[in-house]
Amino acid sequence: MGLIPQNVLDDILDKSDIVELIASYIPLKKSGRNFKANCPFHHEKTPSFTVSPDKQIYHCFGCGAGGNAFNFLMKYERVEFIDAVKVLAHKTNVMLPSVEERLPEESSFIKDLYKINELAASYYTSNLLNQDTGKPAHTYLARRNVSKESIVKFRLGYSINAWDGLLKYARQRGVSPDILNKAGLALPSSKDNSFYDRFRHRLIFPIFDSKDKIIAFGARVLDDSLPKYVNSPETPIYTKGRHLYGLNLAKSAIAQADYVIIVEGYMDMISAYQGGVENIVASCGTALTTEQIRLLKRFTNEVVMVYDADQAGQMASLRNLDILITEGLSVRLVSLPTGEDPDSYVNKFGGSGFRKLVENAKDLFSYKLDLLLQKYKKNTPEGKTKIVSEMLPTLSRIPNAVLKSSYLKKLAQDLDIDEEALKIELQKVRGAYSYSYEPDTKQKLDSSGVMKVAERILVTLMLEDSKLVGNVMKELDYEAFQDGTIRKIVKVLYDFYREGKDITPNKIISYLDDESSPELISELISDTHIYNDKEKNLRDCIKWVKHSLLKDRLKILQTEIRAAEVNNDHARLKELLNQYSTLIKERNFICAEEKRSEN
Ligand code: GTP
Ligand code: MN
Repeated sequence: MGLIPQNVLDDILDKSDIVELIASYIPLKKSGRNFKANCPFHHEKTPSFTVSPDKQIYHCFGCGAGGNAFNFLMKYERVEFIDAVKVLAHKTNVMLPSVEERLPEESSFIKDLYKINELAASYYTSNLLNQDTGKPAHTYLARRNVSKESIVKFRLGYSINAWDGLLKYARQRGVSPDILNKAGLALPSSKDNSFYDRFRHRLIFPIFDSKDKIIAFGARVLDDSLPKYVNSPETPIYTKGRHLYGLNLAKSAIAQADYVIIVEGYMDMISAYQGGVENIVASCGTALTTEQIRLLKRFTNEVVMVYDADQAGQMASLRNLDILITEGLSVRLVSLPTGEDPDSYVNKFGGSGFRKLVENAKDLFSYKLDLLLQKYKKNTPEGKTKIVSEMLPTLSRIPNAVLKSSYLKKLAQDLDIDEEALKIELQKVRGAYSYSYEPDTKQKLDSSGVMKVAERILVTLMLEDSKLVGNVMKELDYEAFQDGTIRKIVKVLYDFYREGKDITPNKIISYLDDESSPELISELISDTHIYNDKEKNLRDCIKWVKHSLLKDRLKILQTEIRAAEVNNDHARLKELLNQYSTLIKERNFICAEEKRSEN
């Protein structure tokens, strides 16, 4: 998103027909005004997947999948937004203002970089496949049990023990040292203005993006010398932390198994894959980034992290995993016996042994809690505090309320502390968030179901009748909406309204670059409920939202007031009581208004 102007996206949506599009993938049956099918995104016997020609959206009542034509393509073809746009632009004959047209030089430069990486990879493989030059690498790979088949699959290579092996090969093919340098494959010499090969006498691992293009290389020594690995530097086509090693080969297995195993090293990934465990990628020794997580989310929502014994007890690396939960993934962990890494484990116990290990992975919550219980004494107040403060940030990010409350209960039981006290602590953690994308941050533990329903009705009404957006906007700031997804949608609705833009749900969707907003919008407008008196419904819902906001604020104030009393903080107490009485007045005013409108 962002690259293509919104009016072009709108144009593509106007010219395409979602029914025609989806019918080209799966058989659709007419049913009333809509079309129905068995959902392609989850297993079902009776069709709950509907496509609306009027609204130009699809929605599955079974699994909640939904959105506009772009979203369907993204999910069905497992492609990124930009590629879905390209497909549909092509089908509808809409010209895309391509990056190439705007930046002709850069674009051909980028194409060159890919070509040079290809050239280098074929040079390295030809070295490896050659009986003579490849000998050192053959011996090494045989010792590590890497099969011929894996060598071909991963396009492994070997850089000979020379300063200008690649430089010469490239020059013969008309590629200058300067551009090899820009591709990160050669380095300038400090003495004269010549260059030398970056990778020498090393085993070469080409790094692919998810579309099988080579973007960089990793290179390992064949003995115990240091540094063990040398990698490509960042280039215009390679940014660290945006890719995962092996994803190009693993993606279909990941989608099929519906979980991904994440290991550290190149060799770990290759060994497991060779052993038949194909739903695996390597993070290459760095903490996972949000980009990598979003990449994986195209294929699955479940992650199993495999840790070495010495990593297993590190709190810092566990804290990193909280971002996976924030991104809506479920995380499990497994640690290896001392002295093993996944590669050595597969070599000892086979792919099936490794698979068994992975299948016994513990969920992040239990893993972390077990670890903390070993580390700290749970029967001392200090120990309890320590454990709670490590667990709460993880707990607060768990989006499923049922799961969260059952974990909360377990934590309270295990530590023998009061569950209510824990809940209060949990609320404090929520307030301290600093993440930019935080679904449900504001979802208070005690916010009632009524609130959620009211928010949903409000959004539905606004989506169905854009005139109503102004009425809601006057009364409620978008921040007043407690549900993270709803808040995002309302913000876009308000922006559209302010700018006087046409509010069409299937177009609003392409402004929202997450998965849950399109799904929620399509769910809400697929609801067949008809609101008779829209204005009255609207007024009631606004009131509920206001009411519930006030109630939450009053509750928090009460806790703070108690705390100020305990601490004998008179100044603070006075301030809080003032706030309290203002809120009470506000509430009475809303109630009085309610009475008036009912009479
Ligand atoms: P083997 O020793 O061949 O089994 O390598 P490995 O892939 O298992 O490596 P290891 O577990 O030691 O490290 C995990 C990952 O961290 C590697 O795959 C590399 O991506 C990265 N890494 C390890 N050592 C270095 C290094 O010296 N330099 C750089 N840049 N990265 C390294
Ligand atoms: Mn290893």
